[in-house]
Amino acid sequence: MAEKKRVFSGIQPSGRLHIGNYVGAMQNMISLQEEYSCIYGIVDYHAITVSFNPGQMEQSIFDCAVDYIAAGIDPAKSILMIQSTVAGHTELAWILNTITPISWLLRVPTFKEKKQQNPDYVNMGLLDYPVLMAADILLYRAEVVPVGDDQLPHLELTREIVRRFNGLFGVTFPEPKAKIGAVSRILGLDGINKMSKSLDNCIFLNDTKDEMWKKLSTAVTDVRRKRRTDPGNPDECNLFTMHKAFSGKTDIEHCARECRVAGIGCLDCKKILHENMYKILQPIQENAAELRKDRTYVLNALNDGQRRAEEIAAQTMDEVYAKLGIKLYHSRLA
Ligand code: AMP
Ligand code: TRP
Repeated sequence: MAEKKRVFSGIQPSGRLHIGNYVGAMQNMISLQEEYSCIYGIVDYHAITVSFNPGQMEQSIFDCAVDYIAAGIDPAKSILMIQSTVAGHTELAWILNTITPISWLLRVPTFKEKKQQNPDYVNMGLLDYPVLMAADILLYRAEVVPVGDDQLPHLELTREIVRRFNGLFGVTFPEPKAKIGAVSRILGLDGINKMSKSLDNCIFLNDTKDEMWKKLSTAVTDVRRKRRTDPGNPDECNLFTMHKAFSGKTDIEHCARECRVAGIGCLDCKKILHENMYKILQPIQENAAELRKDRTYVLNALNDGQRRAEEIAAQTMDEVYAKLGIKLYHSRLA
């Protein structure tokens, strides 16, 4: 039987996961498990490229593992691993660094954004972030990468790196493709910025039903709909985007139709969304509560993930080193 194609994706352990992560990336990560051989990383080396709290890192990594499994990543099917436990990620990143022109990295949109947001925290790791991400993917020769649309420039850069590496050293890596979620980007509660852990604009996977309602009830909708009697435009409304991610066809059609004719108000629409959203998140929250009681299960999954990831990584790195003509003395000197 032909080997299954590989999938890689990663999430940074930089706080609780939110519905943008879930809809933009995780739903695809979960569904791809059936047909592909999937490797999902908790990318801690990426998380330290911005200001972070070392005292919280261990817990954040555990929380991220819990959220992954609770949402439906099955460690029996997929490899769940912590990036820093497999040395190949940074080893391959170093090699890819040597063939990546700095000019390619300077034009990456996320670098420009983060530089603007934090002018005092611009470090080499931040500039190099996309090369480490390319290494994450290529270490496992993954061909499919489920992500939200903010990651597309990184994927494009990965493909450029692949073409350059293969051209210089012989065909080694496939060109990976992004798999974008059904809803590729959810805006924050402000309706302006992308929902993001670093901005205070998220609905978290583990928000209680009341917390969720507090946030939804004040979330910005179509800004041109000022009064209850004004007709609205669902295409201009972030809440409608959320409906597309969480509601069934009947509710989506009902809300779109009634919004356009001012048949229902934003609050009515939000109530329907709230119920549907909670229906999807409640089982995830229940799973997470169970997993927190079974620390050993989570740690075993990560241990097993590390071992299985290392096996694949070693094969890739042996080939990479041989192609570059380095590390050939390693075994002879041992
Ligand atoms: P991060 O939280 O930055 O590690 O992101 C993990 C995954 O979630 C990536 O694939 C992102 O593209 C995706 N993602 C993050 N925020 C959003 C959002 N607001 N809408 C859609 N996808 C998102
Ligand atoms: N850059 C991604 C994010 O911020 C996380 C990530 C790191 C990733 N390495 C990856 C995603 C490899 C997909 C593949 O969301």
